[in-house]
Amino acid sequence: MNICVVGAGYVGLVTGSCLADIGHRVICIDNDEGKIRLLNAGQMPIYEPYLEDLVQQNRKRGSLSFSTDLSRGAKDSEVIFICVGTPPLENGEADLSFVEKVIREVGATADSHKLVVEKSTVPVQTGEYINRTLKIYSREEKGHFDVASNPEFLREGSAVLDFFHPDRIVIGVDNRRTEDVLRQIYLPILEGTFRCPVHSSCLPATRPLFFVTDLKSAELIKHASNSFLATKISFINAIGEICERVGADVQKVAEGMGLDPRIGKEFLKAGLGFGGFCFPKDLQAFVCIGEKYGYDFALLKEVEKINKSRIDVAMEKLKKHLWVLRGKTIAFLGLAFKPQTDDIRFAPAMELIRRLREEGCHIRAFDPQAMKKASSEIPEIFYGRDPYEVAEGAEALVLATEWPEFLDLDWDKMRRVMARPFILDGRNFLPRSRVTALGFEYVGMGR
Ligand code: UDX
Repeated sequence: MNICVVGAGYVGLVTGSCLADIGHRVICIDNDEGKIRLLNAGQMPIYEPYLEDLVQQNRKRGSLSFSTDLSRGAKDSEVIFICVGTPPLENGEADLSFVEKVIREVGATADSHKLVVEKSTVPVQTGEYINRTLKIYSREEKGHFDVASNPEFLREGSAVLDFFHPDRIVIGVDNRRTEDVLRQIYLPILEGTFRCPVHSSCLPATRPLFFVTDLKSAELIKHASNSFLATKISFINAIGEICERVGADVQKVAEGMGLDPRIGKEFLKAGLGFGGFCFPKDLQAFVCIGEKYGYDFALLKEVEKINKSRIDVAMEKLKKHLWVLRGKTIAFLGLAFKPQTDDIRFAPAMELIRRLREEGCHIRAFDPQAMKKASSEIPEIFYGRDPYEVAEGAEALVLATEWPEFLDLDWDKMRRVMARPFILDGRNFLPRSRVTALGFEYVGMGR
């Protein structure tokens, strides 16, 4: 099928490359000329495991191309996936101006039937607005449009894996024809007949569920899922506060809770809290949706409040153990909001660094992927070539992102180069007994 993906950010680039890989002819459109130039020169604007190979191979095969020309992309395609950003406005609402602009242009230029699929996270009822806008801007005599919702559940750092092995593919449609087109698009995934770029051999035991519902319910599934996961994280962080006060260990509590299949063990990791461009903005947007329809989503406001307070908790721990913060040198391992990505948007590490700098601390930082992005946002700190260099002379080390390679460091060497061997493990990631046996003072979160 000929598919146009509008927006070459995390969602669009992964979706476009993966759709090309399962047999479609995809044109990815972005209005950022620099990004398209980069992609056409064979370079990547983001780091995401397996993505670069997918982009290179599919470009070479001619199944994937990049352009800034939306009207050409829309004209040449039967299906248009909208993957543009919906960043938060100052009041927390999602800014839909990018979506609206794309829809107006598609409406004005399309000269045959198009299926428009919303993949960006949008408030419920956006599909209705899209439908209306397409009708207004298209000329009556030029075919017509169908609109569907197909929320994405890709996690950064494992987005390619998630595309090929989803638990479910959710679609919101208002007619059978649209359902059939979307089923056809995802058929290789549904039937397990794709060539997996992640595993050398994989026979998925269970096939993903193709979940078909109405447009509004599909739109809500995305916001409800992300808000629920964020609630789990804030819940366990609140439990962690109780654990610390009574001398219990939140990791043990989470393990015990997670054994109940009704609860599940995922998303019960206490620590510095959630970041990234999805959870924080989706929570705020969902609260705004509630307000718009006369419901006070106080539960989600509390989830957000608990999450923001994680940085205060970390600050308090550092103050308690270092006594005076002014003039202290603090080393950071990890800057990205989670491992396997270079994304620093709403990353707890970045916020903690800002707060420590305000207190007069000197920061030295290392991250396997995120240093380029971090240094353009906070250029004033020292970025080291490796963890040993950043630990040199530090009076505290904050582990802010659980990159697996941090487990394999020579921790004895880390201790020797530090001025004071103190670790604040913001992700409860390091083996406490091993590092304390080496002579570190170790402080975790909620234990
Ligand atoms: C999320 C959703 O998982 C995904 O389905 C959706 O499409 C986009 O938003 P992502 O933001 O990439 O994905 O990351 P995720 O793995 O969900 O983690 C989000 C944040 O929560 C990270 O900062 C992570 O460190 C934090 N987290 C996660 C915890 O603090 N504890 C946990 O137990 C799990």
